[in-house]
Amino acid sequence: MLCLRAEQVKMNIHLANKAAIVTGAGRGIGLAIARMLAEAGASLLLVDIDEPALVEAKSALSVNGAKVQTLAGDLTSAGFAEAAVAKLVAEFGSLDIVVNNAGYTWDSVIQKTTDEQFQSMLDIHIVAPFRLLRAASGWIRDAAKKETATGTIVMRKVVNITSISGLDGNPGQAGYSSGKAAVVGLTKTMAKEWGRYNVNVNAVGFGLIDTRLTRPMEDAETSIAIGDRQVQVGMQSQVREQATKMIPLGRVGTPDDAAKAVFFFCSPLSDYVTGEVLVCSGGMHF
Ligand SMILES: NC(=O)c1ccc[n+]([C@@H]2O[C@H](COP(=O)([O-])OP(=O)(O)OC[C@H]3O[C@@H](n4cnc5c(N)ncnc54)[C@H](O)[C@@H]3O)[C@@H](O)[C@H]2O)c1
Repeated sequence: MLCLRAEQVKMNIHLANKAAIVTGAGRGIGLAIARMLAEAGASLLLVDIDEPALVEAKSALSVNGAKVQTLAGDLTSAGFAEAAVAKLVAEFGSLDIVVNNAGYTWDSVIQKTTDEQFQSMLDIHIVAPFRLLRAASGWIRDAAKKETATGTIVMRKVVNITSISGLDGNPGQAGYSSGKAAVVGLTKTMAKEWGRYNVNVNAVGFGLIDTRLTRPMEDAETSIAIGDRQVQVGMQSQVREQATKMIPLGRVGTPDDAAKAVFFFCSPLSDYVTGEVLVCSGGMHF
């Protein structure tokens, strides 16, 4: 039985025998998603570039018999997606849920945005999810064909993470919003390609969720190591305050708020929903 942490609502959603890969699972929203999947009984491969964060995440989630493995590395590096899929299948013998969540911001107005910066945003937000789904495609097709031959239907789940920045645009985020907008195209296309394999492919677009990406820049821990570079993330306090005032529900979201929307698309509750984008933003649009 899954206990949805915030409200202690009990739901009978079991994901035992489901093997899930969650990218960017070392902290923030990815960690909250992984926790919710683990509590529902799924076996997990956690992926992150930040190895110490992964070690902590694994120890936090490895309770009550949860099966948790990790793979540290940069999702944008060549061959990483194939290695991740191979590890998930080798560890758990299945591939049922893919959550493309890893990401970061590298903001500036367009005249200050370098080619490297723009390309980095496309690499992590759209190229990495594309590669992971391509790497998973052979296994998914073979499994679905075998299941169909025996008259069984097994629904598999892909959830891609986007942002209201990708849906509505946001000044200072030409690269980020372009990558996040592309996620919608990939989601809708894969929903059409993989419907025949019984895969639900959906996206969740977040507004302002309280993680390292949105904390006031004065806070510690608002920079992220990517390759040799430290990229400044976080928001200016004043911008964060103004954005918070635009949220109809009146508060910044928590990682658990965000994870619940993703969990819907990982669960049988969404078995007849595909190609959709669910906005989880407390009602905010830019
Ligand atoms: N926080 C928000 O308000 C918000 C809003 C809209 C969308 N999002 C999206 O939600 C997702 C999760 O973000 P978050 O807010 O939890 O941020 P976060 O920084 O707390 O977590 C993101 C994780 O992704 C990992 N990561 C980044 N680049 C990676 C790479 N190249 N390879 C492997 N791992 C990598 C980081 O190490 C980190 O642990 C991102 O895709 C982000 O763009 C967040």
